Amino acid sequence: MISIAIDGPGGAGKSTISKEVAKRAGIVYVDTGALYRTVGYYAREHGASVEDAKTSEVMTPMLENITVELVYENGTQHVYLNGEDLGDKIRQPDISMYASAVSSVPSVRAFLLETQKEIARRQSVIMDGRDIGTVILPNADIKVFLTASNEARAQRRYNELTAKGVKVNYEDVLRELIERDAADSGRDIAPAIAAPDAIIFDNSDYTFEQSVEFIMKLINEKIGG
Ligand code: DC
Repeated sequence: MISIAIDGPGGAGKSTISKEVAKRAGIVYVDTGALYRTVGYYAREHGASVEDAKTSEVMTPMLENITVELVYENGTQHVYLNGEDLGDKIRQPDISMYASAVSSVPSVRAFLLETQKEIARRQSVIMDGRDIGTVILPNADIKVFLTASNEARAQRRYNELTAKGVKVNYEDVLRELIERDAADSGRDIAPAIAAPDAIIFDNSDYTFEQSVEFIMKLINEKIGG
């Protein structure tokens, strides 16, 4: 078994790169952001503002009414909220802000902790998030903190959303990314920072293929060595 932790800010390519590495290495890809997005989606659907979603007064009672399950169907991750597969509904830009908001609440993090740890106990995984190398898998075999310039990240996020048919403008994407990174890395609990033993990989000037190969090489070194 092997466990790989990929952390870093939004738009650095964590999910697309991790997904491809998972395929090549024959292991499971776990997108932990989807769990926070699911809780954020529930908060929005139940009338919470983004400000409300940052408070434990609003979020803690809500958790009593939520079940979140991670299910793998044909190797693809699905997150079920109270039995419903939300699909791409959690990918909307406003859900990113809600996800970031709820992720700063300690009871929300505690609520999602075991689901994440459990999945890595059963199989080899490459898991992406913000606190994988620091909190969820502190003993991961490989830890990478993937980052890129603000502009490179905003451009990638913009392309991703546009390709999915979501209407956005680049300036808004850039502003929201910067705002969300500041919140994610500045929060008190499980901030999005590199683990002391993580490899910091700035892929601003790397192609997708080069980024995938960079991580594949780390895996091969680990397995070989
Ligand atoms: O990776 P993403 O953009 O889907 O994540 C959405 C939000 O969830 C992100 O702004 C911070 C939060 N998050 C977190 O706090 N810890 C994780 N392991 C993953 C995501």
